[in-house]
Amino acid sequence: MIVLGLESSCDDSAAAVLRDGRLVSSVVSSQDEVHGPYGGVVPELASRHHVRTMLAVVDAALGRAEIDLDAVDGIAVTRGPGLIGSLLVGLSVAKGIALRRGVPLVGVHHLEGHLLAANLDRPADAAVAHPFLGLIVSGGHSGLYLARAPGDYACLGKTRDDAVGEAFDKVAKVLGLGYPGGPIIDRLARDGDPTAIRFPRARLKRGRFDLSFSGFKTAVWQWVRDNPPAPERLPDVAASVQEALVDMLVDATSEALDATGVERLVVSGGVSANRRLRARMTELGDARGVEVIVPRPTLCTDNAAMIALAGWPRLAAGESDGLGVEADAALPFGVAWSG
Ligand code: KG4
Ligand code: ZN
Repeated sequence: MIVLGLESSCDDSAAAVLRDGRLVSSVVSSQDEVHGPYGGVVPELASRHHVRTMLAVVDAALGRAEIDLDAVDGIAVTRGPGLIGSLLVGLSVAKGIALRRGVPLVGVHHLEGHLLAANLDRPADAAVAHPFLGLIVSGGHSGLYLARAPGDYACLGKTRDDAVGEAFDKVAKVLGLGYPGGPIIDRLARDGDPTAIRFPRARLKRGRFDLSFSGFKTAVWQWVRDNPPAPERLPDVAASVQEALVDMLVDATSEALDATGVERLVVSGGVSANRRLRARMTELGDARGVEVIVPRPTLCTDNAAMIALAGWPRLAAGESDGLGVEADAALPFGVAWSG
């Protein structure tokens, strides 16, 4: 079965082709130059840019897979959560193709895609076994999810305000470093002392796994205002900021591992490209006897291959959401976890 995946929930226009669950091609058109001057994603510009690029991205994915649209057996498209205008573009393209070609269409939850992305690099019989814990950290999301069984997810906790990627980006903006800030801070931090400045770590109530980054952002902003750093001090500032953000993620993940007793942890989303986060999560896994799985960077960031993979079992089972599927920025995801 050949599945065409489409993703446009934020600022990446993406399309991918999967044959029987195996990745054949994946194309991502980034909008970093569009949003760079603003230091963050501007939703209206993002959706307009998707309109301009989406069809070319689909063509490129089909071209690299050396197939044309006639070969596609089903379409999987992100229906949420995400920026509503951006989601609508991917959904409209998906519906247009499904209508014209008469093939089934399924809407996919974006976070299910992130949780399953690691399986794109693993043979079908070596998919990450359930139950597993998923830490999703990106510019739009920061949360801990328990994948109990295929299609059965529970949100254990998530950010109450900003996403951790946004914290990286905003701190970089305050320091005048450029956009997106995460990779720049990661690079600078390699030459810095993570203990140079003690930034506050937000700690929410024990036993809950919610996160919060907005207070941290304000604390860094105030520190920079009161202590404008000379260029040679920037690596220490970057390393200290990164250490604080990673500490908060490791803390919550560690408690969630204790509470659930699962033996596998998947870390995904753009921020999982961070070298320090990867190292600390590996240490945490080693200390607990937990297998830590981090997809390769191009599968961690937004892509359509993960969406196609998440939709594939449903399409293979003959399901279709039909052309009535709507964009939903606030989809429920599993049930609330308690106890
Ligand atoms: O998953 P993603 O590509 O897009 C969404 O936000 O959905 O994630 C982008 C985020 C940005 O905030 C970016 O600064 C951050 O991931 N990021 C990083 C690194 N690479 C990307 N943050 C920290 N360290 C990195 N190496
Ligand atoms: Zn994402």
